[in-house]
Amino acid sequence: MKTDLYAVVGHPVSHSLSPLIHSAFASQTGEAMEYTAIQAPLDQFEATVAGFFDRGGRGLNVTVPFKRQAWQMAAHRSERAEKAGAANTLLLDSEGLLTADNTDGEGLVRDLTQYHGIDLTAVRILVLGAGGAVRGVLSPLLACSPDSITIANRTPEKAVDLARLFADEGRLSACSFQELSEPFDLIINGTSASLHGDLPPLNPAAIGPESRVYDMMYSAHQTPFNQWAEQRGARATMDGLGMLVEQAAESFRLWRGVLPDTGHVRTLLRDRSG
Ligand code: ATR
Repeated sequence: MKTDLYAVVGHPVSHSLSPLIHSAFASQTGEAMEYTAIQAPLDQFEATVAGFFDRGGRGLNVTVPFKRQAWQMAAHRSERAEKAGAANTLLLDSEGLLTADNTDGEGLVRDLTQYHGIDLTAVRILVLGAGGAVRGVLSPLLACSPDSITIANRTPEKAVDLARLFADEGRLSACSFQELSEPFDLIINGTSASLHGDLPPLNPAAIGPESRVYDMMYSAHQTPFNQWAEQRGARATMDGLGMLVEQAAESFRLWRGVLPDTGHVRTLLRDRSG
């Protein structure tokens, strides 16, 4: 049987869990595919992508710092990728044209609703951050009909711009971290603060006994933001490992037409880090 080639492209990429996740999906579903990690030189992302598909590659995941470039270079974009302004999945359409999709938001929503069992309908959501990661998840979150989404950012103007961009999809508002004075039902940390060992300077009044907290980052131990939230009495804390697994499953479905079961991979990853 012919083995189809897939890979994740990033810089750096050696830490990526995607090869492990997709290999597990492939064994589970019996799909004949090989999935590797490719570190593209910072100034040669497009050439790396072109070379991969020229060699017969079938699909790519794209990670930091290339998601915007992947979006830009594609001949076609899915509606959700178009709105996200970034792509994490590349494939060729039936005419061989490069097509971009973004499965990050779908991954977050599936993790929240299907795995954690949270009904997002009528929920008051606070999203921290206004960069690419947040832009990628707003449309799928709004599609779940929450009561509202408030975007708070260190640079409030960027939160205002994002709220404007998605205004036709639901109730959105924007503010600074300090302006928040009431608890939210769900708080999603989409800042990159923890990459620099920082916490977003969130007013603790935003966390109440009913607040659930989701950090889009993940690590072997509880993330600093989740630790901070738990100490302030949050009802539950969740990290982004589930989002990673679910976005991978959705990419796999786009490539292979089969949605893998994610339970097994979740256990594999937890056991590995435990
Ligand atoms: P990404 O693609 O990960 O979203 P990005 O587009 O550079 O990366 O956005 C990073 C986000 O994290 C921004 O919202 C940034 O706030 P600013 O817009 O004010 O720069 C936020 N961020 C990064 N470091 C932070 C920190 N130490 N405290 C609070 N917010 C931080």
